[in-house]
Amino acid sequence: MRKGKCDVAVAGATGAVGREMINMLSANNFPVNELRLLASSRSAGQKLKFKESEIVVEELSPEWIKKNRVDIVLMSAGGAVSLEYAPLFSEKKIYVIDNSSAWRMNPAVPLVVPEINPHDLAVDKYIIANPNCSTIQMVHALAPVHRISKIKRIIVVTFQAVSGAGWKAVKELESQSKKIADGDFRELNLPKNKISVFPHQIAFNCIPQIDVFLENFFTKEEMKMVQETKKILSSEIEVSATCVRVPVFRGHSEAVNVELSDDITKDEIWEALLKEKNISLIDDVSKLRYPMAIDAAGKSATFVGRIRHDESRPKCWWFWIVSDNLLKGAALNAVQIAEELIKII
Ligand code: A2P
Repeated sequence: MRKGKCDVAVAGATGAVGREMINMLSANNFPVNELRLLASSRSAGQKLKFKESEIVVEELSPEWIKKNRVDIVLMSAGGAVSLEYAPLFSEKKIYVIDNSSAWRMNPAVPLVVPEINPHDLAVDKYIIANPNCSTIQMVHALAPVHRISKIKRIIVVTFQAVSGAGWKAVKELESQSKKIADGDFRELNLPKNKISVFPHQIAFNCIPQIDVFLENFFTKEEMKMVQETKKILSSEIEVSATCVRVPVFRGHSEAVNVELSDDITKDEIWEALLKEKNISLIDDVSKLRYPMAIDAAGKSATFVGRIRHDESRPKCWWFWIVSDNLLKGAALNAVQIAEELIKII
């Protein structure tokens, strides 16, 4: 760091999250001295905009790391790339804030949502994990509730946007939707050759599978929500999840049922949420007001609404939580981690 400013690299700069990382560095006025953009050889030479300048994308390689020095790397190039390159950066005492799941459950690696556990960052921990998008928005909204009454159990069903699966997934929903809309709307099933990113057609459909199935019949995404919530909020919280991909471009929605330890009121929950940074409470059903993906897209807050007591069980509450999966769910949270990090390095 020089004069309070950092040299930053975005690795995976051409991807859905990488592009938003560049935008968030600018939107949050992160103190950038020099910005380097890295991707695979496929996009080396391409130019991307940062503030008023255009920056040429360079190829991420071991040679690049040997020859160059930055202070912080924001990485969103996938797990395999991160497993290969994050250790090379950290050997040079360069901090890597990684958006993949490669490091999240490593006990030596902090898994951070800055509103909740910034104290898990440390000067000598060079690899930092950005949690899964669906976990970030859920724990962000539930942390203030957990502070006033310990959460015992969470049951969550997610409705996840396609952008969580990258650029190609966005393009797949777009092309499938156009194909169906331009044809006979009664023929909703597309031929198999129109399906490549997702296991089934995503347009006009809901797919109850995100990532691969595990031995316990849950998907990897569902188990990420379980394990990451425990690591961030409390190991004592029991979590069970069903994750569903829906034909939404941007913004994950979640129906969350929470069992608390105490009898508390809706007013107390509202008060806790209203005090929380970056939480937006939209909960007025008399005016049909509740959070929706189309309103959350492009915004930095986590939105909460439909808060109601679950009449089937004492101390249980329903929440509806929505946020832009590319922003608070990924790029913004990574930049916020970097903001906390530069306070201590
Ligand atoms: P590229 O565009 O050159 O393929 P998304 O999640 O939207 O699919 O984006 C993934 C990002 O990770 C892209 O920027 C992509 O670059 C980058 N990436 C993928 N594989 C590699 C690699 N082996 N080395 C560096 N960057 C990679």
